[in-house]
Amino acid sequence: MSNNIEGKVVVITGASSGLGEAAARHLSSLGATVVLGARRADRLEALAEELTGRRAKALAVSTDVTKFDQVKRLADVAVQTFGRVDVMINNAGLMPQSPLDRLKVGDWNRTIDVNIKGVLYGIGAVLPYMQKQRSGHIINVSSVAGHKVRAGGAVYAATKHAVRVISEGLREEVKPYDIRTTVISPGAVDTELTDSITEPDVSENTKKFYAQVAVPADSFARAVAFAISQPVEIDINEILYRPTRQEY
Ligand SMILES: NC(=O)c1ccc[n+]([C@@H]2O[C@H](COP(=O)([O-])OP(=O)(O)OC[C@H]3O[C@@H](n4cnc5c(N)ncnc54)[C@H](OP(=O)(O)O)[C@@H]3O)[C@@H](O)[C@H]2O)c1
Repeated sequence: MSNNIEGKVVVITGASSGLGEAAARHLSSLGATVVLGARRADRLEALAEELTGRRAKALAVSTDVTKFDQVKRLADVAVQTFGRVDVMINNAGLMPQSPLDRLKVGDWNRTIDVNIKGVLYGIGAVLPYMQKQRSGHIINVSSVAGHKVRAGGAVYAATKHAVRVISEGLREEVKPYDIRTTVISPGAVDTELTDSITEPDVSENTKKFYAQVAVPADSFARAVAFAISQPVEIDINEILYRPTRQEY
C-alpha cells in the first residue's frame, strides 16, 4: 500500500542541520526524492551522497534563502532534474534572541530576512509549478514562538507569528489548485538553533533551558511525514507540539 510519500519530490530549505536534515533523512527512508537547500554546501553534499548511497534520490543545491533568485533556482533544479515538485518545506531559520534595548539591529534584519522573506521566497519559487500541476504541498516552519511571545524574544516571535499569518493567507489562496498547506510549530528541539544567539548571557540561559527539555529532531520529521502521508483530500493545516516537560 502506498504511504503517499514514496516517489514524491520534496524540496527542503535549511537541510544542512537540525530539523531540515532530520526531515530529509526520514522522508528519504520512506521513499521520497529529496532536494536539499542551505548555504553550507559541504554538509548538504555529504548528506545527499549518504542518502544516494542508500539507493534514494537526493540532490544538494547550495542556497541562500534571503536571495529570491537562489531559492527559485533550488525549485527550478528540482523540477528540471525530477520533473515536478510535490512538497516544499520552508524550514531555514535562525533565532538570535535578545532584549530590544540591546539594539541588535543586524540580528533583527537577519532574522526577518531569513525567517519571513525566506519563507515568502520559498512559496514564490514553487507556486507557479504547483499551480500548473494543480497539486502540491507547502509546509512552513513556525514555532511555539509563533503562538506566544516572551521578553527577549520579540523579533523572533514576530517572524514566527508572520509565518503563521502568511500560511493562512496562502491556504485560502491556493484552494482552487488543490494545493495543501501545513504550518508546523515545534517547541524546544535539540538542534544548532541556539548557536545563532549572539548575546552571551542570552545564549547561556537558552542553552541551559534546551539542555533540560529539548527533544530530538526526529519529532519534527515524524510530524512532517504525518502531514504529507495523508490522503490527498486531507489538508493538515497546523501542528503545534512541545516537549512534554516544556512549560512555555
Ligand atoms: N530547534 C528548535 O527548538 C525550534 C523550535 C521551533 C522552530 N524551529 C525552527 O526550525 C527551523 C530549523 O531550525 P533548526 O532548529 O533545525 O536549527 P539549525 O540546526 O540551526 O538549522 C537551521 C538551518 O537553517 C539554515 N539557514 C540559516 N540561514 C540560512 C540562509 N540564509 N539560507 C539558507 N539556509 C539558511 C541553516 O543552514 P546553513 O547555515 O548551512 O545555511 C540550517 O540548515 C527554523 O525555522 C527554526 O526557527 C526550531
